[in-house]
Amino acid sequence: AHQWRGVIREYADRLPVDESTRIITLGEGGTPLVHAPALSALVEGEVYLKVEGMNPTGSFKDRGMTMAITAAVNEGAKAVVCASTGNTSASAAAYATQAGLTCAVLVPAGKIAMGKLSQAIAHGAELIQIDGNFDGCLDIARKLAENYPVFLVNSVNPARIEGQKTAAFEVVDALGDAPDYHLLPVGNAGNITAYWKGYQEYYDDGPASSTPVMWGFQAAGAAPIVNGHPITEPETVATAIRIGNPASWEKAEAARDESGGVIEAVTDEQILDAHRWLSSKEGVFVEPASAAGVAGLIAKHAAGEVPSGKRFVITVTGHGLKDPQWALKNADGSDVTPTQVPQDVETVAKALGL
Ligand code: F0G
Repeated sequence: AHQWRGVIREYADRLPVDESTRIITLGEGGTPLVHAPALSALVEGEVYLKVEGMNPTGSFKDRGMTMAITAAVNEGAKAVVCASTGNTSASAAAYATQAGLTCAVLVPAGKIAMGKLSQAIAHGAELIQIDGNFDGCLDIARKLAENYPVFLVNSVNPARIEGQKTAAFEVVDALGDAPDYHLLPVGNAGNITAYWKGYQEYYDDGPASSTPVMWGFQAAGAAPIVNGHPITEPETVATAIRIGNPASWEKAEAARDESGGVIEAVTDEQILDAHRWLSSKEGVFVEPASAAGVAGLIAKHAAGEVPSGKRFVITVTGHGLKDPQWALKNADGSDVTPTQVPQDVETVAKALGL
C-alpha cells in the first residue's frame, strides 16, 4: 500500500529541493477533498471541501512549514521565529521540534484559540504574548530576523508559499482538472497567493486545462483588502484571520484580478452560520475562520451571484478542535445545555424520544 510521503517528496519536481536536501516532514498534505451534498444542492452545482484540518497539526500551515523548516535546516539555522494568530505557531513549533531547532513564536495576547496555544506550549516553543495584534507581532518578527540569528518562517518567506501551492496540485490531481471557482478565507493573504501560484503552474505545465476564478473572503471587522486600507484595530470572532495589514496584500489582489475573481467581506454572524452549516449539514468540523469561504458562497448565492452547474472547491483551513467553544453556543448566542438524566434505560429512552 502506498503511504503518503508529505508534500515535499510527493511534489519534489515542482519544489526548490534536490537529492541532497534534508527534508523535515510530519507527513502533511494528501488531505481529503470531500463532496459537500448540502452546499451542492444549495447552489445547484458541485461543491467540494478541501479539508485542511486533516494536516498533522490541524491546519494548512503544515504544507508551508515543511518547506520553511526544511529551508531553515539546510541554511544552517539554529532558531526560527514567527508571528501568528495561532496556527502558524502550532505548526512552526511542531516542525522545529522534529528538526531540533529552537522556535520563538509571537502571538497577540489573549487573542489566540486555546487549542493552538496548547500546541505551541506542548512542542516547547518560546511563547511570547504581545500587547497588540498580529500585524504588530509580524513587524517585530521581521525585525528580529533582520537583526538577530533567527530564521523567519512566516509566509513572507517564499518557501512557505512554495509548500502551500501543493494544495492546488492536489485539487487538480483529485478532480482531474481545475474547478471553476476556488473559495477560501483571506487573512495575511499567503494562502490565496499560494493557491493561485499552484493553479497557474499546473495550467502552464499541462495537468490543468484552465485556472479557477478565485473568491477570497475576509472577516468584515478585519477586511483591509475589501476596504482598500489597513485596519488598525481588526476585530472578529475568527481570530485566525484577525489581521489588519496583510503581508501578501498585493499578491492577493493579483490573484483576484488575474483570475477574474473577488475578495469580499463576510460578517461574524455569517461566519458562525457557515461554521454551523458545515458541522450540522456536511459533517465537517472546522474552526470559525475556516468557514469564511463557505460563508462567502452562501452570501453570494443569496445575492444571486453564483451560477448553477459549476464546480466549486472551498478550502476549510483548520480543524474545529482548535477552537471548539463555538460549537457550544446556539445560533442566538446562548449556551448549549446537554441533557442530564439518572442512570436508567427508560429515562434515557424517553429523553431520546424513543
Ligand atoms: N484560516 C486559518 C485557520 C488560519 O489560521 C489562517 C491564517 C487563515 C485562514 C488565513 O490564511 O493568512 O494565508 O490568508 N493564519 C495565520 C497564523 C495568520 O498565524 O496562523 P492567510
